[in-house]
Amino acid sequence: MPVGIDDMAIYVPKLYIDSKDFAIARGIDPHKLEFGIGIYKMAMVDTNQDPACMAANACLKLMQKNDLKPQDIGRMYVATESALDESKAMNSFVIGMLEQIYGDGSFEHAGGIECKFACVSGSYALYDNANWIRAEENNDRAAIVIVSDIAKYDLGSAGEYTQGAGAIAMLVKENPRLVIFDPKVTSTIIKNEYDFYRPFGRETPLVNGNYSNYLYLIQVKKAFDSYREKAIKTKLIQLQEDESITDKIDYISVHLPYRKMGEKALAYLLRHEWRCLPRWKQIIEEVGMDEPTPKDPRGTIESILADKDFMKADETFRKAFMRTSFFKQVFEQKMASSLEASAIIGNLYTGSMYMGLRSLLEFEYKKNIDLENKRIGFGSYGSGSSAMVFSGVIQSTYKEIVKDMNLEREIGERSKLDMQEYIRLHSNEGKMNEPILNSNNEFVLVKIGGNTDYNAGLREYVFSN
Ligand code: CAA
Repeated sequence: MPVGIDDMAIYVPKLYIDSKDFAIARGIDPHKLEFGIGIYKMAMVDTNQDPACMAANACLKLMQKNDLKPQDIGRMYVATESALDESKAMNSFVIGMLEQIYGDGSFEHAGGIECKFACVSGSYALYDNANWIRAEENNDRAAIVIVSDIAKYDLGSAGEYTQGAGAIAMLVKENPRLVIFDPKVTSTIIKNEYDFYRPFGRETPLVNGNYSNYLYLIQVKKAFDSYREKAIKTKLIQLQEDESITDKIDYISVHLPYRKMGEKALAYLLRHEWRCLPRWKQIIEEVGMDEPTPKDPRGTIESILADKDFMKADETFRKAFMRTSFFKQVFEQKMASSLEASAIIGNLYTGSMYMGLRSLLEFEYKKNIDLENKRIGFGSYGSGSSAMVFSGVIQSTYKEIVKDMNLEREIGERSKLDMQEYIRLHSNEGKMNEPILNSNNEFVLVKIGGNTDYNAGLREYVFSN
């Protein structure tokens, strides 16, 4: 049964920090953020916004634009790493908000959970819901998967310029208009790691930055190896001797903690895929140096990272590889459009790869490229750590949806924060009932908890007209 993403809707908060203002305030060269990280604007939530109301706003847009009634929806999952409660799931808050519009109890027939595994959990949520439909447990109903997060790092930390916020709601159903997931090839990898984590009670994560970058590359590559094996075994993809599986995948969309990470992930995958092919000789000529190998090629990630000579040589090689005509052509054709949104929104954790998909569709369509039957390979990564690689094919009906996509219009008029306002917001000094912006046609948070055990932690939201 063909199952996949039928439509998607986004919600991005209108406040943002400009990367130049930020760089100047922090004494960083603005070129580092523009080119080294790939960020121009980072979306920030107002004092009356949280991940649940962003999720509800994206979901309401999705339902309204598709004229969906609660009865059409059998499951609603929210994937997030910005949980609001240790027990109560974020989708229950979302249901509460939506029932303010659709009526008390209108979603009672449905089900769903909050999913957590850092940035990869949205992909697991999509996979589980696609299988719920494939198993025909859905009673003709669709599922909605929402990914919603606030990427917030400590003031003054290296993660601070990889922040962002937003939500994406995706409609998952049979015979979808946008993308059908390829069956029997989804591949995962999992390992206990501490590259990025947020212990109970902390608002910001503890991050081992370079380790997390490297682990991301390795884990996605491993999941990709397993995807390749399955794709060949199931004959989804057939390869000639001098072909790589990346030649047969039209687009590559990966987790985007920041724009540049997408480029690095593509470079890592292509090096891995091309190394054994005849074209590698020409590539090495263009690079102008041999590919370095670590002293202990079978060593652990830690031992390889500690191999300073190798790491230095490998960085030089990677940068030169990324300047070759081979890399540039694949990058422009298969990835560049998926990175546009990341540069003006920032990290969305669970949502970042799906904002990338949204960006890919919109910006490739604007180039007048025919997307019908094009295969997209997805490389999803969650710290902690797990990676999921899967693929899907764009359907002939995609234009119905994609023609109306307009990122700037959908975000709406944005408002730049000055550094003082940003620090006030970041330090949670703003008051919920004194937001910076007036809200219009959206859910906002109006109250948290009370003074008694009975009502502590209760969150109240209203739809503000
Ligand atoms: N002009 C142009 N480029 C410059 C420059 C300048 N003046 N100065 C530096 N740069 C370049 C550097 O050369 C480097 O480029 P390459 O990556 O191509 O080598 C780039 O800017 C980044 O600079 P640094 O290597 O000095 O890195 P940093 O100390 O700024 O840290 C980071 C970068 C590790 C990503 C940090 O921002 C961080 O810890 N972020 C949070 C963790 C994270 O996002 N990890 C990603 C993988 S884990 C994950 O994906 C899960 C998740 O969502 C968090």
